[in-house]
Amino acid sequence: MTPSTLYVCTTCRSSADAAPSADRPRAGERLLMAARERATVDADPETRIVGVECLSNCSRGCTVAVAAPGKWTYVIGNLDGEQHAGDILAFARQHSAHETGVTVWRERPEHIRKNTIARVPPMNFQESS
Ligand code: FES
Repeated sequence: MTPSTLYVCTTCRSSADAAPSADRPRAGERLLMAARERATVDADPETRIVGVECLSNCSRGCTVAVAAPGKWTYVIGNLDGEQHAGDILAFARQHSAHETGVTVWRERPEHIRKNTIARVPPMNFQESS
């Protein structure tokens, strides 16, 4: 098993957000905090969670990417800062457990199934003939 990394865009805003403040950070930052809290509660030491600035999916944020060496990378959007931490962690665990990262579609959380923006092949991917 190659552990996967969950990258969370910290600069995404939600349409309901006014200007961010110290006591109300951006939706992406809230999603990152929620994912880290959820991973702690779930006692999940395997999933690496990393905050990043902008994954170029700004109009459909919040946005995350799940990646690992040698595996397909997934970009997932339309995430809510408060509601989807469990879904993205569940998908990251599925991705970690799968040899290529192409997890079984029907086993993915529903929001992940419906809001996958892109999947990108691993480096050195060989076209099948
Ligand atoms: S600000 Fe989050 S994808 Fe651009």
